[in-house]
Amino acid sequence: MGLVLGTAVPQPTALAYLTPQNIAVAIIAFLLEYIIKWRFFGPLRHIPGPWWSHYTQIPDGYHLMRGERALYIHSLHERYGPTIRVGPTLVGVSGTAGVKMVYGTALKKPFTRNPQITAMFNFQRKPEADNIASFHLPGDALKRRRAYGNIFSRGNILAMQDVFKKCFENYFAKLETLRTASPNGIVPMVRCFRALALDAITEVSFGGFYKGASDPDHQMKLLDNLMSANLVQLHLGNAIYSLLKSIPWKRLDWVRSMEDFCRITSDSTALYLSNRAANPSQARKDSLSQLLSYGLPRAAVEGEALANVFAGTDTTGNSTAFIVCEVLKKPNVHRRVVEEVFNAFPEGVYRMGEVMEFRKVEEECRLLKWCIKEGMRRHSLAPGPALRVVPDDGVVVDGMFIPGKVDIFAQSHTSTHDPVAFPQPEEFIPDRWENETSEMRTLWTVFGSGPRICIGENLAMMEMQMMLALLFRNYELVQVPGTDMRITEFWLRSMKAGELHLKLVPRSV
Ligand code: HEM
Repeated sequence: MGLVLGTAVPQPTALAYLTPQNIAVAIIAFLLEYIIKWRFFGPLRHIPGPWWSHYTQIPDGYHLMRGERALYIHSLHERYGPTIRVGPTLVGVSGTAGVKMVYGTALKKPFTRNPQITAMFNFQRKPEADNIASFHLPGDALKRRRAYGNIFSRGNILAMQDVFKKCFENYFAKLETLRTASPNGIVPMVRCFRALALDAITEVSFGGFYKGASDPDHQMKLLDNLMSANLVQLHLGNAIYSLLKSIPWKRLDWVRSMEDFCRITSDSTALYLSNRAANPSQARKDSLSQLLSYGLPRAAVEGEALANVFAGTDTTGNSTAFIVCEVLKKPNVHRRVVEEVFNAFPEGVYRMGEVMEFRKVEEECRLLKWCIKEGMRRHSLAPGPALRVVPDDGVVVDGMFIPGKVDIFAQSHTSTHDPVAFPQPEEFIPDRWENETSEMRTLWTVFGSGPRICIGENLAMMEMQMMLALLFRNYELVQVPGTDMRITEFWLRSMKAGELHLKLVPRSV
């Protein structure tokens, strides 16, 4: 047969298949496959939850952006029960069984933390600067806790009272300075509470050698912006973060706050070390000396100090503000708390501004401590999901199987509003703590629970008791008309207006 030559028939290119019809068919096929995969084969398909949570977590993210995520998740628990699906691979549990499981109170091998979350706490972004909060494996965190956790033990907090006395004197002086500088005696309370918390934690972490402490307001600004800068670097990447940082525009100073925060920490550690070398006999038992004697490298020591300053300042300062708000809303409780502090530190014996002995406050001001526990219960500072990862083999909680590798949480807002353990959960009832049950203890997860429980709980409780005893004993607190007492949540809770302005009227001592 002879070869027939002719003009070549042009082959269609791939682009020729991109017709509107074909694109529509591809999108429909993709969506169908996605829907079928997650609805009928998703790992959490058997767990109750809103329909969209089979496919997406966007509505959850929407409530996060609106500053109401914990309340929203709580409403899902009320509707769907103790175990809920919040996203295709995110499950929430509640009740004592859920809390014990997630926080690992009753487990030989506790769950790991979600590594994306823990990565945020390594502010220097160097593996050698990993710290107790940035470790996702429980074993690593436990090792670090063993290295210096005893610094925050009750015994050491009591042993360091002389050091803290100086901080409370500074706190009282700040209240007085701001009060007398204001024509109406109106004081921004959150600013004072945060300054005390920063002062106390930098004493513990840097032996007082904290350069930023000479200007706590500047330091607070850095703290305010730190997390935003942190999130930019984590989510938008190093290139964008570095670019933004390099633009010499004042409005972008917030991006540089993380770097400034790290630099201040490094300078303070250097100051601490040189002072220690010059005066070895004056070395005291604080967290830096403990970490150094444990043989940790300098980067790790700085990483711990950074994490403690970050974790111990706003948490304590804001919680104290919420407690004051709740006490002021209940005149009867307010009156009783003031009476209690007056009985412990009576007229004629107590001198204005005198820093009280912590043991006496603890023993004789029980209602004050109940107000703190109840205020934190109502407004848990970190109310939403603290993510853990379910081990590969999965677990059973409350009779429901949860498969391995999904994210799980037992959010503290739901635990602390359990209507059986805490009847009338929306009410501020400090006296409920007179008869504390084991269920109340388990569900009061405001400091977390189990092996990763907050390392600074004793310190924070001492600070709050002392700050409030000094405040209620020395001043009549008057609400300023129009003061906004609303509380908002963006991962952590804070005053919606950013401040709590109160009029302080000195009491006749
Ligand atoms: C009222 C004040 C405070 C509140 C409400 C609070 C709350 C919490 C919570 C809920 C956790 C556990 C998070 C989780 O389970 O994932 C935690 C962990 C932590 N907190 Fe606090 N905290 C407070 C004060 C402090 C202070 C004063 C320090 C200073 C040392 C501190 C240092 C830490 C550290 C280092 C961790 C990480 C522990 C670990 O990962 O093993 N906190 N805090």
